[in-house]
Amino acid sequence: MTKLSTKHLLGIKDLSEQDIQLIFKTADNFKDVINRPIKKVPSLRDITIANLFFENSTRTKLSFELAEKRLSADVVNFSASSSSVKKGETLIDTVNNILAMKVDMVVMRHPNPGACMFLAKHVDARIVNAGDGAHEHPTQALLDAYSIREKLGTVKGKKVVIVGDILHSRVALSNIFCLKKLGAQVMVCGPTTLIPKYISSLGVKVEHDLRKALEWCDVANMLRIQLERQEIKYFPSLREYTMMYGLNKSLLDSLKKEITVMHPGPINRGVEITSDVADSKQSIILQQVENGVAVRMAVLFLLAGRAEN
Ligand code: CP
Repeated sequence: MTKLSTKHLLGIKDLSEQDIQLIFKTADNFKDVINRPIKKVPSLRDITIANLFFENSTRTKLSFELAEKRLSADVVNFSASSSSVKKGETLIDTVNNILAMKVDMVVMRHPNPGACMFLAKHVDARIVNAGDGAHEHPTQALLDAYSIREKLGTVKGKKVVIVGDILHSRVALSNIFCLKKLGAQVMVCGPTTLIPKYISSLGVKVEHDLRKALEWCDVANMLRIQLERQEIKYFPSLREYTMMYGLNKSLLDSLKKEITVMHPGPINRGVEITSDVADSKQSIILQQVENGVAVRMAVLFLLAGRAEN
């Protein structure tokens, strides 16, 4: 198989296991490329990609831009805060004006869930979701699963716990879809108020005791508390959250087996994870970031249809 079953990457929900394996196989080749002295290939020459960011980003924005440049695409960057969106221009008008300048693909981050799906229905370009509200963040889930595969040899059969603010997290939802499609066992852990009621219908275990969750798992993916998406208080204080759900070195070292620690970033050091855990040899946080470039190169390359040439 050399083609994805989808025209856009709107969410992991739309991908098959074969799609994910194809992305991983393609990313393996691109990971070799980005570790060479000359990190660039001509694969997307003559393709123009617009990165539209309506919400803050460090890793995803830079990672997509680097991926596009390593593939020799032409790249334009758009930031909502310095654009005519501030003068009242709509999403469709903004994107259609950008497409009129002969853009082939759009990578978009937007605070509204479903914004990428809406765009895909109304404009004639390949759309890649770089995070839409609390809905999905598909390339984050792909790079997370790719990093587990790299560290543990396979994702199938591994036990992965996602800890923290599951309710507001697009990373959690995309990770659940991706890990389940690849045959992992998935658990979510956090306070009752931050675990949505529908979550067990996705085939995941729920645990409210962090120690029990860590004793069960091979991999712990620690999530940030998304205060910017919380309109009410879900727990008494950050200090209490940290006492109940923060991962520190003494807890990590007291476990019966060595687990792998992940975090999608940005980290709030001292809240969901202490610095000595984030920087420990059990942490693969920076490998996740490195793998993000190769995985995004694979996604863009496959969506552009260049694999068939
Ligand atoms: N992981 C992630 O999406 O980070 P950014 O918000 O910095 O892009």
